[in-house]
Amino acid sequence: MATITEPQTKTLLEVRDLKMHFPLKRGIIFQRTVGHVHAVDGVSFDIERGQTLGLVGESGSGKTTIGRTIIRLYQPTSGSILFENTDLANLEGDPLWRMRRRVQMIFQDPYASLNPRFTIGSLIAEPMHIYKLGSAKEIRDRTVELLRVVGLRPEYIDRYPHEFSGGQRQRIAVARALSINPEFIIADEPVSALDVSVRAQVLNLLQRLQRQFDLTYLFVSHDLSVVRHVADRIAVMYLGKIVELADRDELYRTPRHPYTKALLSAVPIPDPQIEKKRQRIILSGDLPSPINVPRGCRFHTRCPMAQDICRQEEPLFERKEGRLHYAACHFAEKVSPPAEVTEQ
Ligand SMILES: Nc1ncnc2c1ncn2[C@@H]1O[C@H](COP(=O)(O)OP(=O)(O)OP(=O)(O)O)[C@@H](O)[C@H]1O
Ligand code: SF4
Ligand SMILES: [Mg+2]
Repeated sequence: MATITEPQTKTLLEVRDLKMHFPLKRGIIFQRTVGHVHAVDGVSFDIERGQTLGLVGESGSGKTTIGRTIIRLYQPTSGSILFENTDLANLEGDPLWRMRRRVQMIFQDPYASLNPRFTIGSLIAEPMHIYKLGSAKEIRDRTVELLRVVGLRPEYIDRYPHEFSGGQRQRIAVARALSINPEFIIADEPVSALDVSVRAQVLNLLQRLQRQFDLTYLFVSHDLSVVRHVADRIAVMYLGKIVELADRDELYRTPRHPYTKALLSAVPIPDPQIEKKRQRIILSGDLPSPINVPRGCRFHTRCPMAQDICRQEEPLFERKEGRLHYAACHFAEKVSPPAEVTEQ
């Protein structure tokens, strides 16, 4: 696939045809592989330095697997993950360890991601000790500074995670991720486990830190209203594939994939007049199994626009009209804009 960012911009991450298939094993003593879970099944996207790519899609579509594969918690089945021209997909040992310092991940559950037996000071300092980023005194000073940066009081440094609320814990997780000066952060549903009342605060914090430290984000969420708030571009995932990729506003105004349109129809709109007239597209059935992916277009079993060709031929993920707008649908041009756009 050709470049999917403007030629003059600086691309930090270039993912090409990435696949992560998990073997499905049977047998107790003599395990044999009886199939594969096609969790990520050939995805390509770019992220420009300093920008946020939002990754959306329903549960089980492969969002977390993409994040975990980029950070090399998994060895990808195939494809490339170019991080400033170094392919993370094939790195091992020392070079991988050094690259990992530049890429950090923030997880959904701030209760599970912080070890309850350590003080928050030692949790934030741990990555700095691992990478030997200064003397004990320098690391302690930087930990105090990081607490301030994420909006927590420095005197909390010797407290334990259970003494904090969910929102505060997520701030601690952010401070820990920032401690080794990463350039790229994968935030996997960072606010989904939080109370609605603190979500905006954590989102605002992430945006402020992005400007302050020139961070690049891959922001994973199943919530399109959250992604709209933070992302510059949005990738929509369905059953292991990206089915649409576009600038945020363009995606909301002129979706080119029926699945994106269905997801958008479920996002509440603050205007009660428009909300009343909107038609919600309810998709029939569940997400098919990623072990037996439907042939042709993998969305055809649930698509309200499906035709015969959809059951036979897989649509290419190709550029449609508009600014760097990509979609995988035989009938992309026939997808009508959402009602709230035509109303305006
Ligand atoms: N380690 C693994 N081994 C086998 N299958 C896996 C593994 N991790 C994920 N899967 C499967 O891969 C598919 C994609 O999972 P993934 O967690 O990436 O989805 P997701 O989009 O992040 O979903 P959610 O919104 O629920 O977090 C699912 O069918 C899941 O069961
Ligand atoms: S290719 Fe066919 S089944 Fe797939 S999204 Fe487009 S219209 Fe629907
Ligand atoms: Mg997930």
